[in-house]
Amino acid sequence: MALRGNLPVLLLLFAAAATASGKSARLDLFPAAPGASVTARARGDRRRHAYISAQLPSRRGGRQRVAAEVASSSAVSLPMSSGAYAGTGQYFVKVLVGTPAQEFTLVADTGSELTWVKCAGGASPPGLVFRPEASKSWAPVPCSSDTCKLDVPFSLANCSSSASPCSYDYRYKEGSAGALGVVGTDSATIALPGGKVAQLQDVVLGCSSTHDGQSFKSVDGVLSLGNAKISFASRAAARFGGSFSYCLVDHLAPRNATGYLAFGPGQVPRTPATQTKLFLDPAMPFYGVKVDAVHVAGQALDIPAEVWDPKSGGVILDSGTTLTVLATPAYKAVVAALTKLLAGVPKVDFPPFEHCYNWTAPRPGAPEIPKLAVQFTGCARLEPPAKSYVIDVKPGVKCIGLQEGEWPGVSVIGNIMQQEHLWEFDLKNMEVRFMPSTCTR
Ligand SMILES: *[C@@H]1O[C@H](CO)[C@@H](O)[C@H](O)[C@H]1NC(C)=O
Ligand SMILES: *[C@@H]1O[C@H](CO)[C@@H](O)[C@H](O)[C@H]1NC(C)=O
Ligand SMILES: *[C@@H]1O[C@H](CO)[C@@H](O)[C@H](O)[C@H]1NC(C)=O
Repeated sequence: MALRGNLPVLLLLFAAAATASGKSARLDLFPAAPGASVTARARGDRRRHAYISAQLPSRRGGRQRVAAEVASSSAVSLPMSSGAYAGTGQYFVKVLVGTPAQEFTLVADTGSELTWVKCAGGASPPGLVFRPEASKSWAPVPCSSDTCKLDVPFSLANCSSSASPCSYDYRYKEGSAGALGVVGTDSATIALPGGKVAQLQDVVLGCSSTHDGQSFKSVDGVLSLGNAKISFASRAAARFGGSFSYCLVDHLAPRNATGYLAFGPGQVPRTPATQTKLFLDPAMPFYGVKVDAVHVAGQALDIPAEVWDPKSGGVILDSGTTLTVLATPAYKAVVAALTKLLAGVPKVDFPPFEHCYNWTAPRPGAPEIPKLAVQFTGCARLEPPAKSYVIDVKPGVKCIGLQEGEWPGVSVIGNIMQQEHLWEFDLKNMEVRFMPSTCTR
């Protein structure tokens, strides 16, 4: 079914999955801001990485405590705006929520537990907000419930009466807006192959009365694809065979080129060469993977094993981070190998990128971009196209599109590195599978 491109953008775009089981569902996924400056994305990534790193102590402490640490920490020099939480340079998805259904454009975010939409109360222009009172299927989650106390991130401790609504607050720092609101449950409508419609009932949904106007100017909220009890991904995966998948088109592709988000198994064949183990931590939404080595031009780089060890660092796959972040020892090794092989290309300044090249005209004898490969535990190896790590930042200029992350600290495989691949998160078997794809089928 070649639905894409023919339907108005404002429709929920679901197409039949290739699997003829009738047990899967699919919707379009498109780059958030085609043409948005990569520089702005890099800044958004920095805030997000600070946010992700700040979550790591939650392995030991409670979530509430982590929120407090973030709020009081003056050592975090980057603004912890909702850009840190939701990032920038992301992929959007359209979903229908409530009864009657209202449509929203949401950021597809594997780093989020809570799906939320803009609600009345903030500075949102009328018409673009969810109205829970107008939805027959909306039910508030009480602040005394376990869902509120244990599962909702940054839920507020104030609970004057047991029937009061569960509130959350993502605003970490004065001067930076986050999202603040109340949690309820509502239904989400999903179209199935063959024109049928299925509803996911009791999806946990935040109704944000305040949100960051910057990051959420052109988007209505967040679709949580994180590994968490209340996330949309867990909920939909449970309904559709235990897995979800996404395929990200080139981030520079025109607006009408879309990838997709799919629910249901069997998107990527289950073979040793396509799969690696997922490392899930019940305290965090992130999808951890184990990297064994990084190769540049066929050579395994000399990177200390601790960098890949979840205890000191580790690696997560994140749809909400744009540029891949490598902890210092890995960053230095990869950049040294790439720059050495690109030494013949004239360099240009293009901050905040450290290594940029004048790529105006084909130069006879100029070096090719060396191949980069990420070897995961097992046989699976990610071989991204060159444009996923030596990226076009403006006409005639390419930069090494990697960011240095703190060491010790977590490394993040961002969405540019994941583009033009289909990724299946198999929560049932705790595996992630991937393969190259144009995302157009
Ligand atoms: C997308 O738009 C461009 C022009 O803006 C057009 O050439 C191309 O065919 C379109 N692609 C699809 C899939 O509609
Ligand atoms: C808890 O505090 C938040 C923020 O001050 C407020 O919006 C919310 O109404 C409060 N909730 C309850 C149940 O008092
Ligand atoms: C790249 O090199 C070309 C030819 O040498 C030059 O005209 C152009 O200005 C350079 N571009 C940048 C961004 O420095």
